[in-house]
Amino acid sequence: MKVLFAASEIAPWVKTGGLGDVAGALPAALRQQGLDVRVLVPAYPALKAAFPHAKEVARPHWLGGLLPSPVLLQAHVPDGGTLLLLDYPPYYDRTGNPYLNADGHDWLDNHLRFGLLARVAAWLGSHSTTLAWRPQIVHCNDWQTSLAPAYMHYLPGNAAKSLVTVHNLAFQGLFDYASLFELGLPDNAWHPGGVEYYGRLSLLKAGLQFADAITTVSPTYAREIQTDEEGMGMGGLLRHRAEVLTGILNGIDTAQWDPETDAMLRKPFTRYGADRLEARAANKTALQRLTGLEDEAGLPLFGVVSRLTHQKGVDLLAAIAAKVLALPAQLIVLGTGERELEDAFRLLAHAHPGRCAVTVGFDEVQAHHIEAGVDAFVMPSRFEPCGLNQMYSLRYGTPPIVRATGGLADTVIDAADAKRGNGFVFDEPTAADLFAAIRRAANAWKDQQLWQRLQRNGMARDFSWDAPALRYVELYSALLAA
Ligand code: ADP
Ligand code: GLC
Repeated sequence: MKVLFAASEIAPWVKTGGLGDVAGALPAALRQQGLDVRVLVPAYPALKAAFPHAKEVARPHWLGGLLPSPVLLQAHVPDGGTLLLLDYPPYYDRTGNPYLNADGHDWLDNHLRFGLLARVAAWLGSHSTTLAWRPQIVHCNDWQTSLAPAYMHYLPGNAAKSLVTVHNLAFQGLFDYASLFELGLPDNAWHPGGVEYYGRLSLLKAGLQFADAITTVSPTYAREIQTDEEGMGMGGLLRHRAEVLTGILNGIDTAQWDPETDAMLRKPFTRYGADRLEARAANKTALQRLTGLEDEAGLPLFGVVSRLTHQKGVDLLAAIAAKVLALPAQLIVLGTGERELEDAFRLLAHAHPGRCAVTVGFDEVQAHHIEAGVDAFVMPSRFEPCGLNQMYSLRYGTPPIVRATGGLADTVIDAADAKRGNGFVFDEPTAADLFAAIRRAANAWKDQQLWQRLQRNGMARDFSWDAPALRYVELYSALLAA
């Protein structure tokens, strides 16, 4: 089975969040199931630097509208995978974030940058392709590639089936009417049953409208997004397409995130497994020293690794952080995002030296140190399509404190369940409910027997990509059989 996996980021080279992790790991898991999967991504500087010998394999042209003629490069990943790098330097040879300029604003030509990515995905799946390798399935991810099914619908010569995976419904790829022509879409696509969305063009909606199948990244989120309350304006459309919509919980990269072999746990950090949980004490000390926290074994240490945005509910934590520290407890936060939230956490660290440490930045190594060193992980998301960090936490014996939403609800079981509990779950996205959950965790932590049971329950669960990959294979097969 030949599958083109189209994405706007891919770990470990270019990653702003979980989408990058998924694009880095799922195709490899699918290859292990015997599928021929190639990943199409823009040739960002980091990818060109990583694959200097990437070979030109095609020059798609006449793509329509104002879309330029890019070059497709092919590169081979050490694990045996193949990347198709979409090279058009005026679009992708920009430093920093794939979506934002240095001021934190969207690049003004994002509709063209990602429209081109989607258009080339559709081209590869069509009869126009000049590549000998032609996918039977074009698997798109989020708004950045979601226009592909619309191109496949409106342009002649389509051969492949299409699948859109929603990683986050909040990002809808909204642009104005003029984009329709710039992107080479026909005038008759402009209606509510086409790509128009409340007077604008939504790249995500286009995909949800025309994909042969839609998935999202957890079963609970799949239900939530079909409601008016949580459907972010797409609830009606998603209910209409309910028959082709399924939720498949993400896996995690279990080679990268394994406390027994984690390459980022170098001295003074140590590796450990479920049978050596006492080794985590050394990691806590190392983390405290590295981040300037008091070297205090008797206080519970809570940790956060997150985009600092409204979605993640970290403002709720900021609101009660002083109360949490007074429990007493310590807090460590790693994240970047909205200015006001970054500032709020900076201020907290400033006001509580030794008790609260904050790193504003993106730091893969510290993320591993936090998972391996804190006592409990805090993830109070308002909504969470899947969430990877709570799964890393479970695997690292770091019971997560989460709100019952999306993938968090599908992975974390409250300690009230004496047999299966692996963390702490609260219902309402309020500072009061979050505080109650954190206080419950702080109390439970004092009972080391109970705590270790929570830790071991989390560590015992299989979060690998094996099972999810099989679900995708089944879905692809069903699409081809239809
Ligand atoms: P989202 O994609 O919504 O941000 P996920 O939980 O799916 O949330 O994935 C987030 C990923 O990004 C995880 O791999 C997490 O470790 C990583 N991450 C987020 N913020 C940071 C940061 N500041 N430093 C390092 N890694 C981060
Ligand atoms: C999005 C979601 C997150 C999910 C990730 C990968 O960024 O916010 O919940 O884990 O995509 O699917």
